[in-house]
Amino acid sequence: MVIVQICVGSSCYLRGAPKIIAKLQELVTDHGLSNRFTLKGSFCMEQCTKGGVTLLIGDDLLTGVVYEDIPDLFESKILPALRS
Ligand code: FES
Repeated sequence: MVIVQICVGSSCYLRGAPKIIAKLQELVTDHGLSNRFTLKGSFCMEQCTKGGVTLLIGDDLLTGVVYEDIPDLFESKILPALRS
């Protein structure tokens, strides 16, 4: 099971968290991995000054994430964890 937390605090929300949530759900569904993936919304992770959206993938804190990063992030970080 892979747990991804995405910040939906004010800054991250305005910087595109809803679009990122939708894209992550789409990618996970397309790969038939929904039952191994949990996506949780989080309050502000106190990384607002770093731009973009903040995500926590397992123990890996990622800041400044934008929508365009999601396909690569999915391939490099989430997919390997889901398959392990
Ligand atoms: S609102 Fe997302 S880190 Fe602060």
